Amino acid sequence: MKNTVKITDNLHYVGVNNHFLPKFENLFPLPEGVSFNSFILLDEKTVLFDTVDASATTQFIDNVVSVLDGRPLDYLVIHHMEPDHGANVETIIKMYPDVKIVGAKYTFEFLEQFFSDAYRDNYHLIKDGDELVVGKNTLQFHAAFLVHWPEVFVTYIKEQKVLLSSDAFGSFGSIKGDPFSDVTPINLSEIRRYFANILAKFRRNVSTLLKKIEKLDIEILLPLHGLLHRDKETIDMLIEKYHVWAKFDVEEPGVIIAFVSMYGNTANAASLLATKLGLAGVKNIRLYDLNSVDFSYIIGDVYRFSNLVLLAPNYNVTLHLTAQHFLTELEYHGFTKRNYSLIANSTWGGRALPFMEETFAKFRDVKLVGEPFTILTKLKEDTTTNLDNLAKEIVKSLE
Ligand SMILES: Cc1cc2nc3c(=O)[nH]c(=O)nc-3n(C[C@H](O)[C@H](O)[C@H](O)COP(=O)(O)O)c2cc1C
Ligand SMILES: [Fe+2]
Ligand SMILES: [Fe+2]
Repeated sequence: MKNTVKITDNLHYVGVNNHFLPKFENLFPLPEGVSFNSFILLDEKTVLFDTVDASATTQFIDNVVSVLDGRPLDYLVIHHMEPDHGANVETIIKMYPDVKIVGAKYTFEFLEQFFSDAYRDNYHLIKDGDELVVGKNTLQFHAAFLVHWPEVFVTYIKEQKVLLSSDAFGSFGSIKGDPFSDVTPINLSEIRRYFANILAKFRRNVSTLLKKIEKLDIEILLPLHGLLHRDKETIDMLIEKYHVWAKFDVEEPGVIIAFVSMYGNTANAASLLATKLGLAGVKNIRLYDLNSVDFSYIIGDVYRFSNLVLLAPNYNVTLHLTAQHFLTELEYHGFTKRNYSLIANSTWGGRALPFMEETFAKFRDVKLVGEPFTILTKLKEDTTTNLDNLAKEIVKSLE
């Protein structure tokens, strides 16, 4: 049974929602599912833009066959070879053996690794800036190197002012209802979590793509995951957010309090700090237990807020490994342009505090707020005073 949506007179949504896939890339939790978006343009030529994940094949094929309605498929444009979009490439080629596969140099390299080199006669190689006329519509291709993977490009359908943006502007969360964001409200946190965890590692390449698309008049924005956008205000807002995130600029003032605790004493200190900040009028406070909240959510908020407080105990004379793992993530992201504060916990000693201090000292353009200190097992009068002072310094840093 088909499940498709008409986007414009001749552009159709043929993507598939997976409402129960537990994790994206077997790593990032998907409490609200995920969508694998795909589109068909019916012009003098027929064009399929991307396929879908292997978990969505049956529904996808139903959608493609029903929208083509007996016509052959002339072009398959592959924006991205990653399996969440490329898993059904070979299935489509086998269904439509004469289809021209539109891709960049790397696209075909990866296609041959995932499948085989049996389809070389079908290749239609494109370079940055190339155009392809498919009837009344012209497809203009823009390379988006490393906007997730090296082969990625985006397509601008000139006559319809549609940008098919590949993974850029995508979101976790399946589509439940109307696919357009002017009808179904967007979840900006999930768009940010997607950016931070999927695209941000190569965020400079995202900036490069943003420069390219600045010149385009975009009326409809179609990412490969999540809701579609046709409301100018929303499109402008998303592009603006992407500019901020791609530079790792602070989006808004706010404090992330991330802690590790085994027996609850460090957690109590984290909680008291949150209370003190809240009573001092701080609005954006996020308190995270690093052992129970998936890092992808915290990393999303790291891209959002100005301040990070890390509290962690000693563990076999070093920093607790969960906190070490979190610091590794911050290093991997090139953590920058933020305020940070540090609290350790020690019963019999170790390098927890110097470990944290040394790691943060390596980050560029970060500012230490308040004095780092060590709680001896649990807060007593002296360390509660330290915490008080720290809260005051954090409040000052937010002004
Ligand atoms: C496996 C293990 C190793 C530990 N190693 C150390 C250590 O090297 N140094 C230390 O001061 N405390 C060590 N501790 C004790 C806790 O870090 C310490 O009691 C701390 O105050 C606990 O904070 P919490 O109540 O937030 O869990 C260890 C605890 C465990 C379970
Ligand atoms: Fe991807
Ligand atoms: Fe993707």
